[in-house]
Amino acid sequence: MPDHNLISASILSADFGHLADEVLAAQEAGAGWIHIDVMDGHFVPNLSMGPVIIKAVRSVTQLPIDVHLMIEKPELSLPAYAQAGGDHLIVHIEACPQIHRTLQQIKNLGCKAGVALNPGTPVEFLSEILPLADIVLVMSVNPGYAGQKFIETTPAKLSRLRAACEKQDCHPIIEVDGGINAQTLPPSYEAGACAFVAASAIFKHPQGTRAGVKALLDSLPEEIWS
Ligand code: DX5
Ligand code: ZN
Repeated sequence: MPDHNLISASILSADFGHLADEVLAAQEAGAGWIHIDVMDGHFVPNLSMGPVIIKAVRSVTQLPIDVHLMIEKPELSLPAYAQAGGDHLIVHIEACPQIHRTLQQIKNLGCKAGVALNPGTPVEFLSEILPLADIVLVMSVNPGYAGQKFIETTPAKLSRLRAACEKQDCHPIIEVDGGINAQTLPPSYEAGACAFVAASAIFKHPQGTRAGVKALLDSLPEEIWS
């Protein structure tokens, strides 16, 4: 797992007619992971992509693929996401009544186990499973769509998470997702996040995908990223 900070480029806002080029542009500009948002139209209102897209992305990059599963009953389809080439399988705690078992199932598939928290879910819900989590994904918008506004209370939540991790001597990667741009990334970093997911700020940047990644990297000093 990385011991530095990184950008996880969320392809939800990419041009799907040129997906391979979009992924490679993000990679060349310095993105560290590719983030794929899987939505089922039930856990979240929107419907997006599944294993076929993960397989397509896997064929064009060696970067770790972050699979964010915004789906009900993720335990039923975890093997399909692992086989498609996902490196990190991130499930929502709100969708997993047996989250302890589900995180173990992800590890048994040979993937990094991630747990995501909706904005309305308190950090305290993680207390029993923090030692099992390789990644904790803190949602800074309500999941379902790209292009939403960063919820301003997120840095305080990230600080509470960091404190909880320190108290339990656990060291998951703290990732933040939703409304991340050059203004919201620095306070999220200060509060304890080290992986930053962005879709619109990268793939809808007026100067293009490379400029989008660069603007995020430039929002903090260079040494933070290496
Ligand atoms: C939201 C997704 C995010 C989304 C981020 O439900 O989990 O990963 O793609 O989009 P932006 O960066 O536009 O907020
Ligand atoms: Zn996401």
